[in-house]
Amino acid sequence: MAFIENWLTAIRTRTVAFLAIVLAIAVTAVSCSGGAPTASAPAGIDPSLVAEYIHTVLAADRTAYTKHVVSRAKMLEGKEKPDGVLDIEATEGWQQTDGIPLPAQMFRLGSEIANESGFFTYNLISEWYINDNHAPKGEFEETALATMTETGEAVKDYQEIGGQQYYSAMYPDIAVVESCATCHNTHPVHLERYPDKIFEVGDVMGGVVINIPMDNA
Ligand code: HEC
Repeated sequence: MAFIENWLTAIRTRTVAFLAIVLAIAVTAVSCSGGAPTASAPAGIDPSLVAEYIHTVLAADRTAYTKHVVSRAKMLEGKEKPDGVLDIEATEGWQQTDGIPLPAQMFRLGSEIANESGFFTYNLISEWYINDNHAPKGEFEETALATMTETGEAVKDYQEIGGQQYYSAMYPDIAVVESCATCHNTHPVHLERYPDKIFEVGDVMGGVVINIPMDNA
């Protein structure tokens, strides 16, 4: 009997220990996932600095993808690339053609996943958008886009959306190389919607907007 009792005690102890671990993991997961979509930035860290951090990572990832993946593809939107070494095409219709996404699409695919985290949202927007998801939304985005397009400087401000305060920052997205301008200028959607808008190297083509929820206190 003593053997069975010891055995049961051992099982109970192990079960309790196991449950404790499960609970600890669950609590950690909830506190790390940010929970509700209105998770706000902790007090004490300058939201402007947070926006700079986020923007640095976004810009770095987009450049790295362009430089180390897209530039190595043999074709870019149907045009031969002399320095391409991979037998693949970077193209808007990548899903239909077994190609790889364009940098702007890669950026959007990432933002769609990150925006679900509930911590903050970001998006690439423009006055002359090809993809409707990139249209400016609300007064801040419209005004900031106009100001930024004119000055070429980032715009940062607080705004309120549905009773929630946000710190929003918009950074200019500039035609750094000729292909930015040519690809957009010759895109069928661009030609149809904005026939008079011709981008040139150095132009602000749109902006990256980052919205960080703040404590309403
Ligand atoms: C090969 C064509 C191509 C090149 C090169 C290209 N783009 Fe785009 N760009 C697109 C397409 C297509 C979209 C829409 C993508 C989507 O569906 O999300 C887009 C989206 C954008 C947007 C968001 C607004 C919109 O039109 O939907 C901005 C801003 C932008 N590009 C800027 C740039 C900049 C800056 C460069 C150069 C660094 C660049 N693009 C290079 C094709 C291109």
